[in-house]
Amino acid sequence: MHAYGLLMIEHRLIERMLSVIKAELNKIEFRHEIDPVFVDIAVDFIRVYADRTHHGKEEDILMRELKLKPLSAEDQRVMTELVREHALVRQTTTLITNANDRYRDGDQIALIVIANNLKTLIEFFPKHIEKEDKQFYPASRAYFTDAEDQEMLEEFGELDRKMVYEKYKAVVEKLESKQ
Ligand SMILES: [Fe+2]
Ligand SMILES: [Fe+2]
Repeated sequence: MHAYGLLMIEHRLIERMLSVIKAELNKIEFRHEIDPVFVDIAVDFIRVYADRTHHGKEEDILMRELKLKPLSAEDQRVMTELVREHALVRQTTTLITNANDRYRDGDQIALIVIANNLKTLIEFFPKHIEKEDKQFYPASRAYFTDAEDQEMLEEFGELDRKMVYEKYKAVVEKLESKQ
């Protein structure tokens, strides 16, 4: 498997989560309410999986290596654009988390903020994913030898192991703090 094969597998899971969020958004419009626990789960997925785990591989490993290569002006431009888009995901996720806290405290206006920002994510992500799948990943692959590509794939695996440990360490710490 190419290193970007793993990134594409992750894209498919992100797309499935986006479909779930989309269905939940339709319910918000119909019922004018949302389950804050659903929002917690969606935010956790976006933050831990889509951002730290997936964007982590893209920014901290793939792009780190690409920066050492003589990138074409177009590939450089797309890479900068993708990093900006990752930052947008982080900002949007923070807005949703803050609004979810307010919604739990009874602020109905916060529901609009949650809905609008979830909508931003489901509209934005498919375009970002398509740009990577069809343009950025294939273009990136051409800069690497097979050996370099496989080294990145191995490093992706290390990042996954680290993230699973961190994620569940945080779960345990949160539960311990409530005892
Ligand atoms: Fe990305
Ligand atoms: Fe991606």
